[in-house]
Parts: sequence; structure tokens; C-alpha cells
Amino acid sequence: MSDLKVSQLADLLQRRRPGYSLDAAFYLSDAVFQSDLKHIFGQHWIFVAVEPQIPEPGDFITVDVGKQSILITRDDDDQLQAFHNVCRHRGSRLCASHKGMVGNIVCPYHQWTYDLKGSLIHVEHMGEGFKKEDHGLKKVHVRSLEGLIFICLAETPPADFEDMAQQMTPYLAPHRLKDCKVAAQVEIVEKGNWKLVMENNRECYHCVGNHPELTLSLYEYGFGYQPSPANAEGMARFRDILAKSHARWEAMGLPSAEIEVLDSRVTGFRTQRLPLDRAGQSQTMNAEVASKKLLGRITDPAVGGLSFWTQPNSWHHFMSDHVVSFSVLPIAPGETLVRTTWCVHKDAVEGVDYDVANLTKVWNATNDQDRRLVEESQVGVASGAYEPGPYSPYTEELVEKFCNWYVGRMRALNPV
Ligand code: FES
Ligand code: FE
Repeated sequence: MSDLKVSQLADLLQRRRPGYSLDAAFYLSDAVFQSDLKHIFGQHWIFVAVEPQIPEPGDFITVDVGKQSILITRDDDDQLQAFHNVCRHRGSRLCASHKGMVGNIVCPYHQWTYDLKGSLIHVEHMGEGFKKEDHGLKKVHVRSLEGLIFICLAETPPADFEDMAQQMTPYLAPHRLKDCKVAAQVEIVEKGNWKLVMENNRECYHCVGNHPELTLSLYEYGFGYQPSPANAEGMARFRDILAKSHARWEAMGLPSAEIEVLDSRVTGFRTQRLPLDRAGQSQTMNAEVASKKLLGRITDPAVGGLSFWTQPNSWHHFMSDHVVSFSVLPIAPGETLVRTTWCVHKDAVEGVDYDVANLTKVWNATNDQDRRLVEESQVGVASGAYEPGPYSPYTEELVEKFCNWYVGRMRALNPV
């Protein structure tokens, strides 16, 4: 499509119709995409990794956010560090691989050498007046929330991350993600805009019709459903199970109540510990644990799944035996990376305590089904016939909250 000017984007943002999906330009336009990278991914806390990906000093990963490559390391004091993956000499990318281990960070071009805190410690042939201290790596804000690694590319990151961390720590801490290891990680590239990926995640209207594996254990009612004439009975039964489960889990010291601030703050999020069907233990094909070694201080396998959704780009399910995390990163207006990471207790032994195929089966199948839904949506919105359609007031409240948050933040950062 022909592309938008900034004034047209501001106009589209102002004209957005509450209760309806977004205009096609939000999914197709390169100008909107560039603005998303600058204002959404450049100004907010982005979920990018889990601490078990870099458990030891010297471990590193790189993550691409648009054209920016970010290097995340663990330094010799066991602290997380994040830098732009760009040499301060003539700008070469420092680490080309997505993960590895280093003593120091050595640029492959002329061997400028940085320590794990980003200080330039060794150069040759730069003359007397050259000051190493003026040429350290450019830092990126990084925070771990109980093992979930967030970065922020802005100079001054949104301050309300601290409040989210305070509220979420009691929910996440019992699972002790930091004492886990990565059992599997899968990357898929979906041919759809990143917002279609997120919107699809924020409703379970599509679950029964599309996710036969996931709905073996998951009740769709926990994902933003409101009672309606069509589901009154099922919803009442679910609410009864939810109330009884919460009472049991709270008595074990596991916070379970819903917190929902998806569109009412800069760092929007939602959490709730949700009961699972059948064996009630884990998101597997028989709803039993996939790993025999339970996490952290959890001793009962049937503690449901703690779901945690963050704006703009992640969701997570913390269960008694494993944690599954999803990071969504835009590649192009019609292309998005979805990185899924499964973590189990670090002492769990593959083939003895868990089987990777069993651990990953439900979400590999679900991701592929969601990929197809997103890709078909992208094709549909690109046709000239698309016009914004109405959200279901009973099942799509959280999709609308995603769009409210997105439009609100874009309006704030793209003033007319
Ligand atoms: Fe890195 Fe020259 S560009 S040392
Ligand atoms: Fe889905």
C-alpha cells in the first residue's frame, strides 16, 4: 500500500473506533511499522529472554529488535548487562552468533576488547591521546523480574516497571525460574504483523475451534471471558472451580488472584493463576506434569498455571513442573519472530525426569495453529475488502485492551 505520513498516522490514531479492530494500515504500512519500532519497542520494557539462557558469567545472547542488535551478558559479579552489539571503533557488530560464552568481548575486526561490564580494556595503535574510558560499549537498560529478562532501549525507561516487579514477585518467586535450565527453545517466523500475533494471544474465542491439544488442559474461560447467555453454565462452573482452587493455592502461599492493568498504565500487564482441566497439573496432552522435578518451593503438582501477560510483547505460563515463555519481536510489517522457551528444574535429567517431545508437544502444536490464524488474518487485512470489525463483548475484552494500550501509547508518543 502507499505509505502514510506522520500526520496521517496521527489522524488514524485519533479516529480509532472503540470496540472495533484496527485499520488495515496498522498491520500493513511501513511507516506505522517504523513508528512501532521507534515508539513501542524503543520506549517500553521488552521481554527478550530468561535467565537460564545465560546462567554463568561470560554467557551471552544477542537479540534483534528491528535493526538494533542487543548483546546481553552475565558479568563476573553475576550481574546481567546489556549493550548495543556495536563496536565503538568503526561500528562492526561484535557478536554475530545468537549465543555463546566469552571471557571478554573481542571485536572481530581490529580486536578492540571490552570486559563483561562493557569497558574498553585493550586496544592497539590508537596513540597517546586516545582515552579508553570514552569508548565503552553503549549500555541498554536491563532488568530481571524473577528470571524474566526485560530490556528497554529508551534513555529513560518507564518507571512503573518497579511497581510491576513488586506486584509480580510474590506470584513468580515460588517457581524459582533462576534455578531452572532451558529444556527447549523454538523460533518461528510468522508472516503477519506483530500486533496480529499479540491480539491473537489476548483472546481464547478461537481456542475451542483451533487448539485441540491446548484445550485438553486449558479452560478458555480464564482468558478474558465474561458470562454470556451462551456460556452461562460453563462460566458458572469455571468460576466455582476458580474460587475453590484459589482458596487452596492461597493457603499454600501461592498468590493467585487476578491483577489486570493491561491498558491503564505504561507497563501494562495481567496475571492470574488458572486451574487446569483433567489431571490439573500442566499444559501437556494428559495434563500431568511433563517433568518429575517440581520447581522451587512447589511440592504439589496440581497448582494450575500462573499466566502472566505483558505489553507489548510477551506471555508466560508458570506451572509446577515447567515454565513456558513467549517473546514476540517484529521483523517487518508482515513478519514477526515468536521465540518460545521451555524451562525445567536445573537438576531434571532429560530422558529420566522429562521427555522434550512430551514437554513441548502442546505449545508446538498451538504455536503452529496460531501461526496459521495470524497469517490468514494478515492476508485478509491486506485485501481491499477489510474494514475494522466488532469485538465480542464476552470474549475479546483483552484484545481491545491490547489495542487501547497500543493506541494510547502511540497517541502519547506521536502527538498531532
Ligand atoms: Fe571493532 Fe575496529 S570496528 S575493532
Ligand atoms: Fe491461540
